[in-house]
Amino acid sequence: MSRRRRRDAAHETIALGVASGEELFGGKLAWDHGGYSHRDAHTQLSLAATFRRLPYLVATSARLAWGADRPALLAVAAASIGRGVTSAFSLLATNRVLVELFAAGPTPGKVRAALPALIALALSGILAALLGAASTVAAGRLEPKVERAAEVALMSKVSRVEQAKLEDGDFKRLLQSARWGTDASRRMISYTIGIVTAAISLAAAGTVLTVLHPVLLPLLVLITVPQAWGAVRDARRRYASVQNWIDHGRQQREVEQHLGSLSSGPEIRVHGAGRYLLHHYRRMAAASEAEETRLVRAEAGTDLVASSLAGLATGLTYVVLGWLVWTGRTDLAASGTAVLAVRSGTYALGQLVLQIQYTYKQSLFLEDFNRACAIADEHAIPTGGRPIERFPDEIRLEKVSYTYPDRDRPAVDAVSLTIRRGEIIALVGENGSGKTTLAKLVAGLYRPHSGRILWDGTDDTELDRDQLFDRVALISQSFVEWPFTAAANVRIGRAEPEDEAPDARTKAALPRPRTGLAAEDDQAGHGADPELEAAARYAEADQVVDELPRGWDTLLDRSYVGGVALSGGQWQKILLGRGVYRDADLLIADEPTSALDARAEITAFEKIRALADRGHTIVLITHRLASTRMADRIYVLDHGALVEQGTHAELLDGGGQYAVLFRMQKDQYTGVGKTVPGAGGALHPEHANGSAAHSGEELPA
Ligand SMILES: Nc1ncnc2c1ncn2[C@@H]1O[C@H](COP(=O)(O)OP(=O)(O)OP(=O)(O)O)[C@@H](O)[C@H]1O
Ligand SMILES: [Mg+2]
Repeated sequence: MSRRRRRDAAHETIALGVASGEELFGGKLAWDHGGYSHRDAHTQLSLAATFRRLPYLVATSARLAWGADRPALLAVAAASIGRGVTSAFSLLATNRVLVELFAAGPTPGKVRAALPALIALALSGILAALLGAASTVAAGRLEPKVERAAEVALMSKVSRVEQAKLEDGDFKRLLQSARWGTDASRRMISYTIGIVTAAISLAAAGTVLTVLHPVLLPLLVLITVPQAWGAVRDARRRYASVQNWIDHGRQQREVEQHLGSLSSGPEIRVHGAGRYLLHHYRRMAAASEAEETRLVRAEAGTDLVASSLAGLATGLTYVVLGWLVWTGRTDLAASGTAVLAVRSGTYALGQLVLQIQYTYKQSLFLEDFNRACAIADEHAIPTGGRPIERFPDEIRLEKVSYTYPDRDRPAVDAVSLTIRRGEIIALVGENGSGKTTLAKLVAGLYRPHSGRILWDGTDDTELDRDQLFDRVALISQSFVEWPFTAAANVRIGRAEPEDEAPDARTKAALPRPRTGLAAEDDQAGHGADPELEAAARYAEADQVVDELPRGWDTLLDRSYVGGVALSGGQWQKILLGRGVYRDADLLIADEPTSALDARAEITAFEKIRALADRGHTIVLITHRLASTRMADRIYVLDHGALVEQGTHAELLDGGGQYAVLFRMQKDQYTGVGKTVPGAGGALHPEHANGSAAHSGEELPA
């Protein structure tokens, strides 16, 4: 195939792969460069700039290693320097041997004279080998520690970052790249060792050459420049490619995971989604391969040019060396040493360039790692603040608004409402009306962009966030099905790491009353963990657990041997158990019963009501309006704004949106009335037919 046709074919493959990505994920993600500042680093950094950055790169890995394992770092440093010095020493010893051998006189005498230098040469060889082994052992100890330290640093920062930042697209992309940075931190260690060792060997060779004849040193540099140029060019090209294709790769992996995942299994089979996904997967994989091929070809081209130039420079060096001997400027022994020095120098230089190339490539990811850590620190949930002595009598929202970063319209729009201690507040409204967002604002997860949330008059931004979170249990609409045991799935609601002594933490210094479920539950005492048993019994999760093959110890993930899959409703009972076990003053339950059967749902709402009677404050989000009757106050949201509020009876009397929605649900069961709307807007009171709005008044409150 001609070069042009090959290029056209590659372009077509890439275009098809990108089109597949667009069809499945929308948008030209593969060429979205994201928004982080050093994204042009690879195009800005010249060869000279790369070398200038070298001290910084070496310092970065030294700093990481210093934090991870100081003795190992010192051992590695000593061994690397030792190896460089032995290589210089062996060159000098070689020169000595050659000088003795090329001297005038009988051969046995010359060999005898050269013997001490020969022994020194052998000893330095042994020493170099020992130092190499020591360096390998120390580096082997150091590398995993550095990687783990970097991973833990990143994860601990990311787990503390504000939720809103975590959802920010740019930060998500940066995190993706930063995860490679933790791996880079490990690799940087061996590359840095390589750089230090090669630099010392190079310095040794350079010094020896300068001593032999000054003209040889620039020649050594001449051999290296093309190699360095090629290596940096390759590194920059590869980094640019990784950045451009990072989303494509992520999409490809996503499709791949779904093809084999348990949850996608039924649709893949019954709907034939597998064929569709495979088709796109093939095209996306082909595009990735085409890009890899393009890179390898480009690298081969660059390497060819670099090696040819280096070869020419080496040839020139030997010509100069020959001329120096011919014209009597150096003797034969010196030129023999020079040949060795040039060889060991070019080898060291080659190694140096290679290691710098690797380090440079890794350093870009490490930079992303550093940046992600810095941004995570900058947007970390603040620690400290005013302690919360007791749960407030009222939480008041004043004109609270929140807009998601990538949206124009606010998801919550100037909402003012009051939540009183021990009350049940219900949030209702159509899909997308802002209920979940409002709940997350109340939980302290998002910060209002305007307006205030006051806990007994104190702005919640002034409060200790950790203590605030400690008062809240969030039964989330998109809850986590932890791939852990049933017990861990409930306990994670109030998990305290064992190495954190309770009294070392501020929030434990402010004990809050527990529901005392375990004390009241006369069966609870029989279990290994009375609180767990009591919470589960309260949420009816005990029935789910009783049916599990290993009870509480059953792993709730089918992808592991012995793991079990739960039904949606069963999961929801576990989740309710988690919320009850957390035992917080404020329980935010976002559609907690959407998957429960009728009986379980009725029981669940009764239990939630009973929690309120015990002094817990409840924010309940539900589409089941039959259950909002028990709420002390109902707030109706529409497009983020609060449009109605009152008790169930008041709202029905008002004949507004709530009355329409309630009427529609009622009619579904009784089969009377024709209030189910046709297109869209009938949920708005003004669109609803008169009888619905009117008959709302006749409904039982
Ligand atoms: N993480 C997010 N990023 C961007 N927009 C979001 C995010 N979560 C929700 N939204 C948008 O904010 C608006 C309100 O969403 P929210 O989840 O609060 O609605 P909801 O009332 O809970 O709906 P539902 O009844 O379907 O649960 C919607 O338009 C939604 O698309
Ligand atoms: Mg919601």
